[in-house]
Amino acid sequence: MAKKLDILIFPDPRLRKKAEKITKFDKSLENLSNDMLKTMYEANGIGLAATQVDHHVRLIVMDLSEERNDPKIFINPTFEVLKGYKMYEFEEGCLSIPGFNETLARPDKIELTWQDLRGKTHVDKPEGLLTVCIQHEIDHLDGKLMVDYISALKRDRVRSKLLKDFK
Ligand code: NI
Repeated sequence: MAKKLDILIFPDPRLRKKAEKITKFDKSLENLSNDMLKTMYEANGIGLAATQVDHHVRLIVMDLSEERNDPKIFINPTFEVLKGYKMYEFEEGCLSIPGFNETLARPDKIELTWQDLRGKTHVDKPEGLLTVCIQHEIDHLDGKLMVDYISALKRDRVRSKLLKDFK
């Protein structure tokens, strides 16, 4: 049975750790993926990076479907921005920064490479929401957060509020 994991909340320093590449495609990786999916669904999120549940490996789960029945798992994801891209604006939220939403602009044309649970490599050129969502989640694996894209003043305000709310 999958279990729900605790989600780290900003400014927890563990959210700043850089995740390690995954080299073992075993049962424990499958279990962690399932636990992360359960955690994401119960929190009503559309994506979750392993960093957010204090596992510092390059693993992301996601479900962008309205019906919440299309779980996706990305292992060791990387992307390259493609020629002719535009900046796509989307109001992002983050399970590690509750109550905070901000419109960010990210490149809308990428080539995404990742592995599945068996270690098989996939390459795709995603469209729409997946493009920005995967960039948000890959940022997590690199210890980067949405609040890094806003002014220091605004970031301090978010930090103080969350420190008070999640004491
Ligand atoms: Ni996030």
